[in-house]
Amino acid sequence: MSNDEQGRTLKFHILKYDPQLEGDEPRMVTFEVDEAPGMTIFIALNEIREKHDRSLQFDFVCRAGICGSCGMLINGKPDLACRTLTSRFPRGEITLLPLPAFELIGDLSVNTGEFMRSMSERVEGWIHDQEQESVDLTRIEERMDPDLADEIYELDRCIECGCCISACATKRMRDDFLGAVGFIKVARFALDTRDKRTDEDWYEIIGNDDGVFGCMTLLGCEDNCPKDLPHQHKIAYLRRRMVKVT
Ligand code: SF4
Ligand code: SF4
Ligand code: FES
Repeated sequence: MSNDEQGRTLKFHILKYDPQLEGDEPRMVTFEVDEAPGMTIFIALNEIREKHDRSLQFDFVCRAGICGSCGMLINGKPDLACRTLTSRFPRGEITLLPLPAFELIGDLSVNTGEFMRSMSERVEGWIHDQEQESVDLTRIEERMDPDLADEIYELDRCIECGCCISACATKRMRDDFLGAVGFIKVARFALDTRDKRTDEDWYEIIGNDDGVFGCMTLLGCEDNCPKDLPHQHKIAYLRRRMVKVT
């Protein structure tokens, strides 16, 4: 019998703090929830909001591990609330904190959008086709090797949840560090044969201590990415390409 079928009462310890509210102080609040079969952290949070605290702030959109909005620290580990079963915690005690390294909106809700937008602008996360001066909608798409298309698709699975950024010691120490999600984005476009940017162009963006040379390779990103993206492999790949430029 699994833990979620034993009729447990779960204890959730949740950070409550609204920085918009004058005089509010960060504090941990404990809520009790009766566990149901197949219960996720997301379902439990909804129950807490319905039954105990209507002011509790947390984010979700898809409830299916696709939108990337429900990232939070779950017993100290960055993860997606909608994909985490309460049965994973045999002691029935679950501590929830907002993802660090992002601006706190309130309680468990953080502003990952601003970071992701500026990261995307910094790496210019779109195809740079220098041969095409204007958009031609009738142009036939270039052929691509299926293995390369698979490799790019693998990286496009990033949902920009921010878990890799919260798990990154370098990012926590250095605000301008691009971070693993940025490296995944750069690798995705550097691999794409339609993107005409050269290694010298990429060097301008990631060939410094705020880029791949500042990464300490402790791989908190790889260990905590809920989509299991190949961070270690891609950081090494970008380093090899950047070293050739120097
Ligand atoms: S690389 Fe992984 S952990 Fe980082 S934002 Fe993308 S899906 Fe989330
Ligand atoms: S390997 Fe690099 S990007 Fe990944 S968590 Fe460590 S310092 Fe951050
Ligand atoms: S609610 Fe969309 S990933 Fe969790």
